[in-house]
Amino acid sequence: MKNNVFLRTLAMAKPYRGRVALALLFALVFAASSGATLAMLLPIFDDVFGAREDNVSTLSLDQAMSQTVLPELQEFWNSVKGGNASSAVESIKTVPGAFLDGIHRSAPSQALLAVIVTIVSLILVKNLAFFLQTFFIASVEEGMLRDLRMKVYSHLLRLDLGFFARSRSGELTTRITADVVRIKRTVTQSLITLVRQIFLLAVYFFITLWVSWKLTLVTVAVLPPSMALILLLGKSLRRKSHRSQEKMADFASFLGETITGVRVVKAFAMESFEEQRFLKSVNAHRKYEVSLRRMKALSGPLTEFLGAVAAGVILWYGGNAVIDGSGMSPGRFMVFLAAALSMMDPAKGISKTYAAIQAGLAAGERVFGIIDTPPAIVEYGSAIVPEKLSRSIRFENVSFGYNPDNPVLKDINLEIRAGEIVALVGPSGGGKSTLADMIPRFYDPDRGRIFFDGIDLRKLSISELRGQLGVVTQETVLFNDTVFNNIAYGSAGISMEQVEKAAEVANALEFIEAMPRGFSTVIGERGVTLSGGQRQRLAIARAVLKNPPILIFDEATSALDTRSEKLVQQAIDALVEGRTSLVIAHRLSTIKKATRVLYIDNGRIIEEGTHETLLALGGKYYKLWKMQF
Ligand SMILES: Nc1ncnc2c1ncn2[C@@H]1O[C@H](COP(=O)(O)OP(=O)(O)OP(=O)(O)O)[C@@H](O)[C@H]1O
Ligand SMILES: [Mg+2]
Repeated sequence: MKNNVFLRTLAMAKPYRGRVALALLFALVFAASSGATLAMLLPIFDDVFGAREDNVSTLSLDQAMSQTVLPELQEFWNSVKGGNASSAVESIKTVPGAFLDGIHRSAPSQALLAVIVTIVSLILVKNLAFFLQTFFIASVEEGMLRDLRMKVYSHLLRLDLGFFARSRSGELTTRITADVVRIKRTVTQSLITLVRQIFLLAVYFFITLWVSWKLTLVTVAVLPPSMALILLLGKSLRRKSHRSQEKMADFASFLGETITGVRVVKAFAMESFEEQRFLKSVNAHRKYEVSLRRMKALSGPLTEFLGAVAAGVILWYGGNAVIDGSGMSPGRFMVFLAAALSMMDPAKGISKTYAAIQAGLAAGERVFGIIDTPPAIVEYGSAIVPEKLSRSIRFENVSFGYNPDNPVLKDINLEIRAGEIVALVGPSGGGKSTLADMIPRFYDPDRGRIFFDGIDLRKLSISELRGQLGVVTQETVLFNDTVFNNIAYGSAGISMEQVEKAAEVANALEFIEAMPRGFSTVIGERGVTLSGGQRQRLAIARAVLKNPPILIFDEATSALDTRSEKLVQQAIDALVEGRTSLVIAHRLSTIKKATRVLYIDNGRIIEEGTHETLLALGGKYYKLWKMQF
């Protein structure tokens, strides 16, 4: 699984492989020039600071170089001209050595100049390479981030309502915002930073080997124990960061709930209660974050201390070799020491990168978890495009529960004939909204089937089916957009006249025109600046504009004042006119208009008939009616 996540994460960089390759190339250049800069310590100590009591050279720089580098370059050029690749490689490999030899043969002041110019140029190359690496990788990173966000978002849009009922919105938000960033870091860290650190480590290691393999062996003997410690630390870090992110999602969704429900919190004076709950949630996150940061803080110093111990051991062996003159020049030893000490940096970097990669893989598992969730509502076989409803929508022994052991609809048999207005009434929680949700296939029955003109709903094209339906839900959802766009939502290429007409039919024109910018007025998040009745009328206008042959209307339960009530009622009347309608009714006037009334309680249809016959029956409906009106 882990492996799989890693490979899938890397695969996201595929469209950007050209730029990744360039970045890798510059990482290589960076490592090589870092190593070369370090190697310049050798001529500084051995040739400039005059450790050459034997015979101080008096050659000028170009004289010396023409003895050493020039012949090698000439040979290289000849090999290239002769098309002899292997000998060309051979001769180019000797150039750096010949260059050092050239400095060695020239007079100290000339050598100093050569060293300075070389070091400055090398540092220029190194930093240029560093910049170019980031230059290319930045667009790779951000591109991948966008790709992944789009992928998760598109998939979320296609998931079924059941999935959203099971998930917390804060958690989903965290996945698209923070988790995706962690994944991005994994890819770039592992591809670029890790590769660069490994190159660096390799270059430094190569230099130590070049100076003295014996001393390198000593170094290697001191390193592995510290490496083991670092790996262990990384593992624990990963676990902690996972928990910390979970806690973060916890309080993010908590925060979301409070913001949505702030009215209720205030109404019930629950501020300090919510504070306590929030404190608990924030505290849980803090606990993990503190120990996470402490652990992270430990990893750096620990590596450095272990490095210092290693340096002490190396100094002891190497210093003695210089003192007793057994073939180790001070310059060579300085290069060795610098290379060995420089190894700590990439080693530390690798341990940090390792932790980041682990955190990213954990995030990857969560994000891929979403992407891999199959939508529960899919089309079976080749989707049939339905004709306009001509006969009926029929429920046949339909049972359904949000979770399997708690059925909400029990064995529903129901036929809604074309052109009929069927009203659902009954106590709250009886299953009315759930029943209505079955027709657009927001949920599929657990048992039984639903037919659309005799065709099983599951065989129909989902978008075509929903295209025939106008759904006005119990809670009016308005988007943070203009009135015009809210009404025209879901209908393409709509003119102002059409929207105005729809608003008029829905009894909404008057209040819209009274707004400061009319149809261009932006209504706030979830339409907070509108009253309940106004929002309902906007939702009705939206349905009027869509002009669907079938209407599913879930009347809001919220009470309206008499004037609003009347306006909304007129709007509803205009809406159901001439359509096959399923109306979940809380208003007497709506019920009276229905051709049939179904009384639903506890997931079953208990009573059925017209308003009058049900009243005459004197059963549950009669009681409800007496209580409400
Ligand atoms: N997304 C959901 N997940 C789990 N249970 C749910 C979900 N939606 C509704 N329920 C449960 O299903 C039952 C029926 O709910 P439903 O919304 O269909 O009732 P209703 O008849 O529309 O009530 P009301 O008149 O108050 O709108 C209730 O017990 C409710 O708790
Ligand atoms: Mg309901």
